[in-house]
Amino acid sequence: MRKNIILAVITGLAFSAASAIGEDKVDFEKQIWPILKESCIKCHQPVYEDERGRSRRPKADLIMTNKEGLVKGGEANEDAPNLTPGDPTKSTYYTRLLLDLDDDEHMPPEDKAPQLTGDQKKLLEKWIKDGADFGDWTEFTDLPVK
Ligand code: HEC
Repeated sequence: MRKNIILAVITGLAFSAASAIGEDKVDFEKQIWPILKESCIKCHQPVYEDERGRSRRPKADLIMTNKEGLVKGGEANEDAPNLTPGDPTKSTYYTRLLLDLDDDEHMPPEDKAPQLTGDQKKLLEKWIKDGADFGDWTEFTDLPVK
């Protein structure tokens, strides 16, 4: 009998620990933005001139350096939403990461920027699932990112 009680207590503790981790809110500025900055921004930032004076446009007209651009999405946004708060499976910011590396739509394109780790993908998935809250973050201005 006592064994059962101890077991019940241990199980209860294990469950509450697990849900505590699961409930931690993802902080966009601290946890998501650094990933985007590292792996996405060099191709998805406002127009800038490179060292040869050539104008560099954001790929797919997608600007990811501010909240407005991230919410608005790119040129295919209407057919394939870039961000559906609450549903990562309907958010190409997430689904494109899961495609095969040699798929044309995989992001970031192979060998062009650091690929996301498994944990980084999970974090992005959770951020979207929890409603894609940007907190107080509105934009990053130290541009261009090369
Ligand atoms: C080396 C350049 C490069 C990097 C880095 C890059 N992308 Fe892209 N991205 C592209 C190009 C080129 C396209 C347009 C072709 C296409 O749709 O696949 C594109 C298109 C997209 C689109 C489709 C937008 C639309 O509505 O048409 C999304 C979403 C996207 N990228 C997300 C990301 C994310 C998220 C990252 C970082 C994890 C990233 N990209 C990193 C080059 C890049």
